[in-house]
Amino acid sequence: MGFARLRGFKDVAGDEARVFARVEESARNVFSSFGFEEIRVPILEEKEVFVRAMGETTDVVQKEMYEFTDRSDVRVALRPEGTAGVVRAYLENHFDKTKGLAKLFYMGPMFRGERPQAGRLRQFHQIGVETLGTASPHADAEAILCLAAFLDAAGAGGYRIKLNNLGSFEDRSQYKEALKVFFKDKTAGLCDDCKARLDKNVFRLLDCKNEGCRKIARQAPPIDGSLSPESKAHYAQVEEALKAAGAPFERDAYMVRGLDYYTKTVFEVTHPKLGAQDALGAGGRYDKLIEAFGGAPAGAVGFAVGVERLLMVLAGESAEKVLRDDTVFVATLGEKAFGPGFQLANRLRRAGVRALVDFAAKSLKSQLRSANDEQARWVLIAGEDELSRGELALKDLKNGTQETIQLSSAVETLKGKANV
Ligand code: HAM
Repeated sequence: MGFARLRGFKDVAGDEARVFARVEESARNVFSSFGFEEIRVPILEEKEVFVRAMGETTDVVQKEMYEFTDRSDVRVALRPEGTAGVVRAYLENHFDKTKGLAKLFYMGPMFRGERPQAGRLRQFHQIGVETLGTASPHADAEAILCLAAFLDAAGAGGYRIKLNNLGSFEDRSQYKEALKVFFKDKTAGLCDDCKARLDKNVFRLLDCKNEGCRKIARQAPPIDGSLSPESKAHYAQVEEALKAAGAPFERDAYMVRGLDYYTKTVFEVTHPKLGAQDALGAGGRYDKLIEAFGGAPAGAVGFAVGVERLLMVLAGESAEKVLRDDTVFVATLGEKAFGPGFQLANRLRRAGVRALVDFAAKSLKSQLRSANDEQARWVLIAGEDELSRGELALKDLKNGTQETIQLSSAVETLKGKANV
């Protein structure tokens, strides 16, 4: 009997893998233009790293982490998100002392044992950035502008950016009391989850998808009444910088986040092409986390985009095949031609030309089909007769033309055509 994937885990191949790689490339280009550098942190960390960062009462910590005790009796967990590990690395590698401000990006798999559904996996990928060591509201604005530039470069236009101000932890504990008072005599109308949230994490009530709960929650006092002048001033500057940059956003005074580390600015990007799980990415400021990890007090802000959700948005748009000018398919005719064709493909690759060859070397027709599947613009036809004369036929699938070229100068000729 064969094996099957675990529920909520996914293979990525073919077109999807190609778009995946292209998205990563867009991220690298855009993040680099904003001055972010890559960091690769471990997938496995001490569980406490995530608990300390995300908060004891969050859903992720309470029920979604893949955790176990390893052979050295250390309680470990597969990372459910990227921020905690990056903050751990920032302090452990003394970036706070050597760099002060660190602007880092990462991409890779994350794990959450949630109930799988469209757009929600147990292993998913995030592409994210973190700016550590600054309290400047312009760092928040920069993160949001970077997120928008990345989504635009990836071809995911049509998204909405929602912004909110969650204030400081002190502002929030005041707001928590106000919410408790508000919901106290309305418990009858709440779902069972929300009844439990009332004591454990009252903010999550604002976030419930249940229609009955939503109706009640939208009557709740917004956070503004509990915000300190400092929190308000910070947030106002973020909005101002975004407006000056011409970035579209909306304020959503009831937006809260599923992780507890946020302070002041939070944001979420949704896309109409996504279903119930419509958050394409999210982030915010987390001014207390570095301190909670043992560092000197320092502000930080970042975001992460869910790659699978981004691929769902891009699906369809990438279906159209474009022929690649940089690709040569070496088609060989006859057993004797395969060896020289194979060598030629290798020489082309060493010269920087993307070259493909069909191991089965079936009919010319089937090789031309493969060339098209592989998006090759150029097909080099190596037949036994041509080879014996030191010649090859070169087909241009874009223009539908064919010419004869010399085997001895084939690599140079193709380098010119493929622009390498
Ligand atoms: P998050 O909102 O938990 O934030 O996740 C960010 C994004 O990851 C979501 O908007 C979604 O696109 C994707 N995502 C989350 N869970 C799943 C899942 N089960 N399946 C598929 N995609 C998923 C964070 O993780 C924060 N670390 C973001 C951040 C960075 N805040 C500051 N810096």
